[in-house]
Amino acid sequence: MRVGILTGGGDCPGLNAVIRAIVQRAIKSHGWTVAGIRHGWRGLLLEEIEPLTLDSVSGILPRGGTILGTSRTNPYQEPDGEERIRATLARQGIEALIAVGGEDTLGTAAKLARAGVPVVGVPKTIDNDVNGTDYTFGFDTALTIATEAIDRLHTTAESHDRVMVVEVMGRHAGWIALESGIAGGADMILIPEYSVQFREICEAIWRRHERGKNFSMIVVAEGARLADDSGQPLHAQSEKRDPFGHVRLGGIGASLATKIEERTGYESRYTVLGHIQRGGSPTAFDRVLGSRFGVAAVDLAKRGSFGRMVAIRGTEIVDVSLEEASGTIKTVGPELYGMARVFFS
Ligand code: F6P
Repeated sequence: MRVGILTGGGDCPGLNAVIRAIVQRAIKSHGWTVAGIRHGWRGLLLEEIEPLTLDSVSGILPRGGTILGTSRTNPYQEPDGEERIRATLARQGIEALIAVGGEDTLGTAAKLARAGVPVVGVPKTIDNDVNGTDYTFGFDTALTIATEAIDRLHTTAESHDRVMVVEVMGRHAGWIALESGIAGGADMILIPEYSVQFREICEAIWRRHERGKNFSMIVVAEGARLADDSGQPLHAQSEKRDPFGHVRLGGIGASLATKIEERTGYESRYTVLGHIQRGGSPTAFDRVLGSRFGVAAVDLAKRGSFGRMVAIRGTEIVDVSLEEASGTIKTVGPELYGMARVFFS
């Protein structure tokens, strides 16, 4: 048997742990051969494929990024995309495909599975917004990085009596903002799921000043919106869209800091964590989760359970249908956001 692996969409820490686990399980437990597909779906369209051996994955466990490279190529936007993928798989003798990715990659995998392609999914994203799994690998590392940044920004905010606005990733789901905000003791957390009035933010800052706290920490997800009178989104949206139709976000931190300073008169600064959240070495949690997902994905392929995605529920590794995992995303529920509000100023 020959199994193929691809990593698609934005990269995240832990991808190499998954690749290593797939290769080790496939070769050592089953005697299979493994094909590494370069740059996500693009590698299947252009037939950019290399053999992966035990040697190729030696030493990659703690490394960030993906040794296979990635892209946001959408085969369903390419002429004869599905047919070209089938043809590549046939020519390469790949009998099982493991697609490691987030909502877009898994959505594509679901479409291919529906069309009879033997594919298994592994959920990846720092955003933690894939349905059907409690966690995606990469999230814990991004959360750790964001929390450490908030801790560092706290000390300098306090020294200078400043309002600090920290912009983190999260286009449609606010998991990183919510959890790093709780862990870092933020005075206000803004996420895409629940918009707040601009005056609520200022009131939180004023309340702190009344209590003798002359600095504040606001954590904002890049896709958050204000529900204020103007109704204008604060994040700059570039007109450019990726092949899955997503606009490029960014800028809400800067706009918010300017607005806060204008309204309150308190000196304000902003920090955009950006791709720092996606780079570097994965945490132990993400290495372990990635390793468990990789082994489980090979086992699904071994059983012929195609059209499924590995997932974690509680502490157990389970599998769910790719249909269930794609189509909609997992967002922050009102109960959890309500709990976080307890800690706002
Ligand atoms: O989907 C993961 C993610 O990191 C989002 O949080 C973010 O909006 C997006 O990718 C950024 O994408 P790119 O790397 O293409 O700028």
